[in-house]
Amino acid sequence: MKQMIRVALPKGRLGESVYKLFDEIGYGCPEILENSRKLIFENEEKGVCYFWVKPSDVAIYVEHGAADVGIAGLDILLEQEPDVFELLDLGLGKCRIAVAGRKGALSGTGKTLRVATKFPNIAKNYYAEQSREIEIIKLNGSIELAPIVNLSDVIVDIVETGKTLKENNLEVLEEITSISARMIVNKASFRFKTQQIEEVCDKMRNRILSENKDNTL
Ligand code: PRP
Repeated sequence: MKQMIRVALPKGRLGESVYKLFDEIGYGCPEILENSRKLIFENEEKGVCYFWVKPSDVAIYVEHGAADVGIAGLDILLEQEPDVFELLDLGLGKCRIAVAGRKGALSGTGKTLRVATKFPNIAKNYYAEQSREIEIIKLNGSIELAPIVNLSDVIVDIVETGKTLKENNLEVLEEITSISARMIVNKASFRFKTQQIEEVCDKMRNRILSENKDNTL
């Protein structure tokens, strides 16, 4: 009997686009599109099972082997540094991580820089490389508010369109890295389900390549 591949999908818009790709390469599970509060969907015939999980929890499910495969943003992978294999860049969910704040917020050298962020690990690593002394203020959302109300000097956050910064009179001060969605796999699953996982990955890679080709024609 075919072994099931368990896939952790990030809840939300990115997860829906990713599911569409899985469907297009032959791993559909139509029940997933029904508007329900169900969290797990199986298609025995195709040998696939999907879970919807919070985007920041995808790597946890995969690292612990509760899912074989998952789709996570590079931001989550850089922040959590999970012990998983990264198989493929899906080229979806593109954005960047940047230092942002009021114009000139980085001047005044010598002073400890107060950095508000959802990504303390990324911020610490970035400033450690620059040997800059910082104080991390860990927040869980609405990060842009921090420099406005003087909770921090700058933020380290996701910038997608730049609209949130602009509407709050903030700007990108330094770019840290570009981000996109990655396919990750549990290390033991990759050993025991190599053929099936490589098949999914190859089909996905080809699908993405042909889509990119169509877009440039
Ligand atoms: C993210 C990020 C920024 C915003 C950037 O927040 O933290 O706030 O999107 O997008 P933009 O450049 O297109 O304006 P999210 O919507 O995830 O909500 P949050 O504030 O709860 O983190």
